[in-house]
Amino acid sequence: MFGIEHPIIQGGMHYVGFAELAAAVSNAGGLGIITGLTQKTPDLLAREIARCHDMTDKPFGVNLTFLPAFSAPPYPEYIAAIREGGIKIVETAGRSPEQYMPALKAADIKVIHKCTSVRHSLKAEQIGCDAVSVDGFECGGHPGEDDMPNMILLPRAAEELKIPFVASGGMADARSLVAALALGAAGMNMGTRFIATKEAPVHENVKQALVAATELDTRLVMRAIRNTERVLRNKGVDRLIEIEREKGRSLKIEDIHDEVAGVYPKVMIDGEMDAGAWSCGMVVGLIKDVPTVKELIDRIMADAESIIRSRLTGFLDDGKATRRVA
Ligand SMILES: Cc1cc2nc3c(=O)[nH]c(=O)nc-3n(C[C@H](O)[C@H](O)[C@H](O)COP(=O)(O)O)c2cc1C
Repeated sequence: MFGIEHPIIQGGMHYVGFAELAAAVSNAGGLGIITGLTQKTPDLLAREIARCHDMTDKPFGVNLTFLPAFSAPPYPEYIAAIREGGIKIVETAGRSPEQYMPALKAADIKVIHKCTSVRHSLKAEQIGCDAVSVDGFECGGHPGEDDMPNMILLPRAAEELKIPFVASGGMADARSLVAALALGAAGMNMGTRFIATKEAPVHENVKQALVAATELDTRLVMRAIRNTERVLRNKGVDRLIEIEREKGRSLKIEDIHDEVAGVYPKVMIDGEMDAGAWSCGMVVGLIKDVPTVKELIDRIMADAESIIRSRLTGFLDDGKATRRVA
């Protein structure tokens, strides 16, 4: 569907998904994605797309996140920049892309919508999305409000969906990929894991923080305002959680403005690791190194083959190999 070699997608990431990372992922045989709204205007997005075309001949996509914003970004203009930039794959996320489907389809663009529930996945299928990215409770960013881990969510999606889907959230390595395939997915989408790569254009402090953190170091914030986000714990996040405790159900976004607004450039560009809330998945517990994107993807594909050939086929041989594995 996307013309890529390996079933691995790099999800859109605010202040991470620049041309450098998207091109590196696509050059390594996956699907790289530029984060549309990190570019402050449609014109800047057009330039970022052109930069990425200079770095790769392979297909890459653009993420369009539909925010619950008071002042919505000019989405039609962003879509025009995407279309004119020759992009044929768009990852949508946040609110339903229904309103923009005619414009995307008229430009012959394949749409993969990221959603955190079976009902939203079915809605995406119904409005003409080509695929979905099913994002479990483990994921970095916004896991929704259902708290459904991928061990349940993926097989449920497989039971209901006709269009293909990839597993997203908690995916890090060959084990994740093979498990995702077993649960019915056609591949996997990774966010957090791709930040800890040589090409990710973020401050070195961010990569080192990911290597140092364990699976216990993420927190859910903004639940009271139904905008739940999984973030890496830091001093700013501890402050945020304290405010949330004090305010309880009366919490308003203004109360936590300093801990959530304008944090991404401080973290990703300046390396201020205690600046506040920035998305990070539980999968951080599985990140132990900072390889190149190609090393990461090659390792995933090679290890996946060996897991399937030597570990899984063993289960077919009268249990002998099963015992060996055990
Ligand atoms: C730092 C960061 C920023 C993100 N920003 C966005 C975004 O702007 N739009 C979006 O749709 N998803 C965003 N995501 C979510 C990812 O695209 C992906 O769905 C998620 O990271 C998958 O979970 P994982 O981190 O466990 O791999 C972000 C994730 C991270 C870690």
